[in-house]
Amino acid sequence: MSRIILANPQSITQAANKIRGGDIVVLPTETVYGLGADATNKLAVEKIFKAKNRPSKNPLIIHVENLESANKYGEFTKQAKLLADAFWPGPLTIILNQKKGHGICDLVTAGLSTIAIRCPSHPVMRDVIKQSYCPIAAPSANNSGEPSATTPHHAAQSLGDNIDMILAAGACDVGLESTVIDLSGNTPVILRPGSVTLNDIQEYLPETIMGQDIKSNSPKSPGQMFKHYAPSLPVRLNAVDVKEGEALLAFSSIKFMGLNKGGSVKDLPDYAFRNLSENGDLEEAAHNLFMMLRDLDRPENNGIAVMNIPHQGIGIAINERLSRAAKG
Ligand code: TXA
Ligand code: MG
Repeated sequence: MSRIILANPQSITQAANKIRGGDIVVLPTETVYGLGADATNKLAVEKIFKAKNRPSKNPLIIHVENLESANKYGEFTKQAKLLADAFWPGPLTIILNQKKGHGICDLVTAGLSTIAIRCPSHPVMRDVIKQSYCPIAAPSANNSGEPSATTPHHAAQSLGDNIDMILAAGACDVGLESTVIDLSGNTPVILRPGSVTLNDIQEYLPETIMGQDIKSNSPKSPGQMFKHYAPSLPVRLNAVDVKEGEALLAFSSIKFMGLNKGGSVKDLPDYAFRNLSENGDLEEAAHNLFMMLRDLDRPENNGIAVMNIPHQGIGIAINERLSRAAKG
């Protein structure tokens, strides 16, 4: 059952061959692990939805090698070119109107007139894309609704026996999914915050707004409608103490945190305590977030208390994931 295979030149070629042959493979990216398939092969894409239990109305991101390749699938506006030049390869997904006759199967775009495109920077993912000669459709490699997998082990745990190859390259650098920006309309809208922040994007497109600021009954990103990022335990945010049986997901100093029943947070057993970043570093916290949520999500605990995370920079993306986890 050893499906976790370390990435090296041989296994990378093997993974690319599997993708070309219509199989699904778990692949490392700089954000989170992805569950990849040939985006032009309907049967292969169907396997993704089945393996993840993903609702078919939730479209997928296609992963391409460069702007030239992306240009085959999406109508690149001036705005889109500007952002692609600035942030690709990297953790930014751009939604554009689809080009006609591009060969991507309908299931990928869930029948929408737009398409989500990303050019990842992870060298292993880039090699797989090059060697498979096709755009790779890849959602996060987790069972639908669970926190994204940021390690090969967590992908294996979340997807169960549905996958026969997990190409492993350690923990993902960023740890949160890519920023998703919709450039299919007149105003650029961030549909999902990530490590490329609103401020970063506004340096190039000052008119950009956050999607959650728009009042509308029909969310433009279908994924935002579904339960997401939820561990099986209840998550309690902005905790200033720890209740009996709860685990603590700390951020920065724990000097002023106490146990509800008395005693010090330092007395919590290993299975009930993680610190996202002792130094209060938000990038480090993002990198650790899903990994630590999964670590604490175990039967010995009855809930997860999370300390306040500053709402700035990548902290905005962390708080978005946490608030969804808390609603889950
Ligand atoms: O970092 C990432 O983006 C990772 C790695 C594997 O690349 N992928 C990822 O995919 O997070 P997924 O499927 O878990 O999230 C994609 C999000 C979903 O919320 C989906 O609804 C949205 O992007 N999306 C995809 N196509 C869209 C479209 N045409 N219009 C609006 N939203 C779209
Ligand atoms: Mg996902």
